[in-house]
Amino acid sequence: MRILSIETSCDETGLSLIETDTNENVTTINVVADMLLSQAMLHAEYGGVYPTLAKREHAKNLGPLLLELLKKANLFIPADTPSVPKEMIGEIKELLEREPELFVYIAMILAQAQKPPIDAIAVTRGPGLEPALWVGVNFARALSKAWSIPIIPINHMEGHVAAALADGSDTTFTITQPKMPALALLISGGHTEFVLTENWREYEKIGSTRDDAVGEAFDKSARLLGLGYPGGPQISRLASEARHAELEQPYSLPRPMLHTNDFDFSFSGLKTAVRNLVAEIGDPDETQKKQIARELEDAITETLVTKTKNAIEHHNVRSLIVSGGVSANTHIRSALEELVAEYEDVALYIPEPSLATDNGRMIAFAAAMQGAEIASISADDLHANGNLSIVES
Ligand code: KG4
Ligand code: ZN
Repeated sequence: MRILSIETSCDETGLSLIETDTNENVTTINVVADMLLSQAMLHAEYGGVYPTLAKREHAKNLGPLLLELLKKANLFIPADTPSVPKEMIGEIKELLEREPELFVYIAMILAQAQKPPIDAIAVTRGPGLEPALWVGVNFARALSKAWSIPIIPINHMEGHVAAALADGSDTTFTITQPKMPALALLISGGHTEFVLTENWREYEKIGSTRDDAVGEAFDKSARLLGLGYPGGPQISRLASEARHAELEQPYSLPRPMLHTNDFDFSFSGLKTAVRNLVAEIGDPDETQKKQIARELEDAITETLVTKTKNAIEHHNVRSLIVSGGVSANTHIRSALEELVAEYEDVALYIPEPSLATDNGRMIAFAAAMQGAEIASISADDLHANGNLSIVES
């Protein structure tokens, strides 16, 4: 089965094309082509993702990225005469009323190319920034109508799970069902949640953040320290320099909700504590910034590890799945690896860093992971939902 995937939930425009097959619960995936365009630099001046800008950039970039993807995959087959009837072009124009630029590009592709041999279009329908999600959703609907290809709606969080479960590298991956119960710790710029799975692809949320996501704690603190966006990688770099240089640790930040008897988190206090610390110091110099970054990374790591340990023991977990942008963090990765090593029968699934942050592949992987029972729908039944929960995937 050949699947085209589309990801536009935040500030990365991701497209990919995979071939997949499932045999006796083992899904094999071959990544044929892959495109990823990050808008991070454009959002940097706002210190976070600016939804209207994200929407505009997705609309601008999806068309050219699709053309390049099809060419890379050798699926751009020139057509002598347009293969899509005029009335259909009119319908697509209406559908893309709010994305005129995208319409023009799609119309050009439809006029020049034959219908590519693609069996399904997997697209993120949520959660995420709703205006950004709609661009990807409408793009998928337009292609689905024009080429009569069914749609597989994907939950972005299940995409992160799929990225962690995918075993392999480069272009060849396999996904097998992990031992149950499986616990997913999903840590990104928009989410921080524990999801428990006792049966394959059935999810129960057992904890989440009560305020900011962990990625936000990194991003907002980085902003307070005058570092760029996204803040996670910047904080991580300074923290690691502080450890290497064995700098003193003069500051202490809170470990929010460390000892509460639940699997919830709270990270907004951490950002406030960083704000107060910066105000107290005045204008932190480079050394002080490194020291704060290290303390922040330590506080976040300790909180994540302690809560994960409690959840593993409380739910007799056999597989720990860690994913989302923050799982690219080297310090957090090794702390979780150490934690899992304490247990004889717990396996750790964590994506390579390039698959941890948002990308198009993870959406194709989530579709592939549905195996023989892929649930496809028609274009008219597809809607974006910014607040979609993984429980509804
Ligand atoms: O999953 P993702 O790409 O987008 C969302 O779905 O939110 O996650 C982005 C988040 C940002 O907050 C970014 O600062 C954080 O992941 N992040 C990191 C690292 N790389 C990305 N946080 C800590 N350390 C990193 N190395
Ligand atoms: Zn994400």
